[in-house]
Parts: sequence; structure tokens; C-alpha cells
Amino acid sequence: MSGKTDALLERRNHHVPQGPFNVTTAFVKEAHGAVMVDVDGRELIDFAGGIGVNNVGHCHPKVVTAIQDQAGKCIHSCFHVAMYEAYVELAERLNHLAPGDFAKMTMFANSGAEAVENAIKVARYATKRPAIICFENAFHGRTLMGMTLTSKVKPYKFGYGPLAPEVYRMPYAYCYRCSFGLTYPSCGTACADHLEEFFINHVAAEQTAAVIAEPIQGEGGFVTPPPEYFPKLKAICEKYGIVLIIDEVQSGAGRTGKYFAIDHWGVTPDVITMAKSFAGGMPLSAVIGRADMMNASHVGGLGGTYSGNPIACRAALAVLEILFEDNLMAQSVKLGNVLEARFNALQQRHGIVGEVRGKGPMLAMELVEDRESKTPATDKAKALVGRCFDKGLVLLSCGNFGNVIRTLMPLVITDEQLDKGLAILEESLEEVERS
Ligand SMILES: Cc1ncc(COP(=O)(O)O)c(C=O)c1O
Repeated sequence: MSGKTDALLERRNHHVPQGPFNVTTAFVKEAHGAVMVDVDGRELIDFAGGIGVNNVGHCHPKVVTAIQDQAGKCIHSCFHVAMYEAYVELAERLNHLAPGDFAKMTMFANSGAEAVENAIKVARYATKRPAIICFENAFHGRTLMGMTLTSKVKPYKFGYGPLAPEVYRMPYAYCYRCSFGLTYPSCGTACADHLEEFFINHVAAEQTAAVIAEPIQGEGGFVTPPPEYFPKLKAICEKYGIVLIIDEVQSGAGRTGKYFAIDHWGVTPDVITMAKSFAGGMPLSAVIGRADMMNASHVGGLGGTYSGNPIACRAALAVLEILFEDNLMAQSVKLGNVLEARFNALQQRHGIVGEVRGKGPMLAMELVEDRESKTPATDKAKALVGRCFDKGLVLLSCGNFGNVIRTLMPLVITDEQLDKGLAILEESLEEVERS
């Protein structure tokens, strides 16, 4: 820190509350591709991507052009007052892209949490049932329903109750720390079968509107279920007429080498929530779902003043063009392979790396004090993130113990930037392990 950063930090601490947290002390002046430059001219390689928002990179020229063009034509008319083509076109594109050989409809909101709120409204309205089943380690946002569905108590829920009623939580497929004390594959994915027992001990199936799950838990530690997990969950949901909501807010838009992460499991959700990277940095989220469910709600029950803002919709259309026509999806797969090889090598060299998991470039390392006890190395993960930042790499931790190091770098990162960032990470990991 120096000069402008110090002065801004002092102003920030004086005028902005501590609740809106900061992972680093950096103030960004500009950012392009996978590099941010702070107000003091310091270059930072970005492995955080604004928490998984910048898959197409900071200020991608096509996104900037779309935003500029739309800003000169119409910034806001409110979709509920005077409609515009970009909203409809984006909905059409998403309906075609989403898995499932059935009619779909899409509505837009502003944030991931808002998409989740709307998905729950849609599921409750369509089924006329109240209960929602969510999972341990889940993160679904900071609104009332979002934080209720979220698992980790501190900092997300502590002191903010009472929380929303009719929300039930069951263990997830966290094989590295199995809640049932079992080992994959001999467990037979008992964690998925547990849903049937859950209906006996916690909430009746015929009272349950939806099961909501992240395909790869983001904030919860990039927890990645085995191949059988989602097909089993889906079959049980189908058996009881329960809506399966898949929250792709962090895992979607090409992050895992596929547009929707759930496609890795070959499962068709009834409803999908999207946000973050799908609009290239503009505040936009989507709820994509079966047409009959999405269209069940009465007129005026869904929406919002800014929902599906035209500039944000244009940005999201540009992101789709970059991913599919400019072939960034292929780059995502390539990047994932490089990261996996480097992380696996780190695991071989360092006992502190307990597990490497994820899909494509949505990859993580869970740090432990030793592999026997699996004691979460929370302080070491924190120290690692700090050391990386001091050396010019922005990196995020996650997980309920804060001991998981995750990668959410822009998919457009150059080989040189990636190499430099990984070298910082590797050097810092060695230092932290030795300290
Ligand atoms: C899976 C998931 N759902 C919902 C949210 C909430 O999104 P937002 O912060 O845009 O409200 C997040 C944010 O990290 C997320 O990862």
C-alpha cells in the first residue's frame, strides 16, 4: 500500500461500514483481461475474477461495445413499462441452451440472490407446497431467503434472524469430509439416497416444493459430487413431483468447461439460476425453467424495476457470442487441464494440500494441517492469500473453514499471466508450509 491507496482506505473506513467486506486493500483504477491495475499503478494478476464474474475477462472489447452502444440508445425503460428486444433475445438464447427437451421460459433479475428468491417463488407457486430442501455448505446469497438457504452461520446469518420458515437442510456429497463417515464409491452415494429418509424425519415429500443445489458448491469450498449424485437426486425429486433447482450462479457461463456445470452430470434441472459471469460484469441474473412452471405465476407476481436492464441484457448477449462464436469455451477446457496438472503436482509435493477438486478451471485445493487428521489449515490458507496479494496475485479462499483455495480467473488469461500467477501461488504455498 502507498499514496492513493492509503488515503482511499482511510476514507473508506470512515464512510463505509465494515459489513460490505473487502478481501484485499486494493482500489482498482482499471482492469483488462486478467490484470487489474490499482490507483498506485500496481499490477495485480486476477485469479478471483470479481468472485467468478469475469469469465470473459475485464472490459472485454465486445462487452464494452455492447454496453456503450446500448447506453447511447436506451439505458432504462423498465421491461414492465416498455419492452425491448434484448430481453426477449437473451431469454430465447438461454431457453435453447439450457438442458432439457421441453419448452422453457426465462425471466431476469439483478443479482444471484434475487434469482434464487425468484426460483423459490416459482417452485412454491407451481407446486402449491411450502418447503424447500437445501444443503450443508451451500451458499445462495445474502437476502432473507438467500441467507436462510445458505449454510455457514458466521458471517452470513449470525444476528440477522429470524430466518425464513420452511427451509430444511441435509448433508451434501462432500466426499472428503463425508457426513455419514463413508467412503466413495463403496458408500453407494448414500448421501443422495438419504433424501428418501429425510422425508420421514424432517419434512414430507408432498409438502416439499423444491430441492435447491449448486452443482459445484462455490463459497462452500468447490465441493464436487460424484457422477451418480445428481442423477439420483433428480430421480427422487421426479418421483415425488419436487422441483429440482440448480443454482449455477458461480458455476455457470463456461466456468467448468461447459456452459452449465450440471451438464457434467447429464441431469436436466426443472429450474436453473444464473448470474455473475453470464453478463460479463453487469448486474443481471436469470431464472430459466420449465415453461409450465415459469408461466404459472399470475401477472405482476414476478419482476422488478431494474430486472433485465437493457444494457445488462446486451452485455450478456455479447458474453454468449464470446463464449460460443469466439470459442472461449474451448479455452476454458484447456485452462482447466493446465490448472489440474499444476494443482495435482502441488498435491504430490505438499502434504498441506489435502484434496484437489472441481471441474475445468473451477478448481480448488483444500488445505489441511496433515492428511491424516484433515484438520482444516484455515490460518495457512489466510496467510497464503495474503502472501500472494503482497506478490501481485489476487486469490480467493472459500469453504466453511476458509481453508480452500479456489481459482476463478478470467478464461482469457494469457499463458504468461497464468504462469506468473501460478509461480506466485506455488512459491507462497511452499513458504506457508514451511512457516
Ligand atoms: C451459488 C451462488 N448462488 C447465489 C449467490 C448470490 O449471488 P449475488 O452475490 O449476486 O447475490 C452466489 C454468490 O456468490 C453464489 O455463489
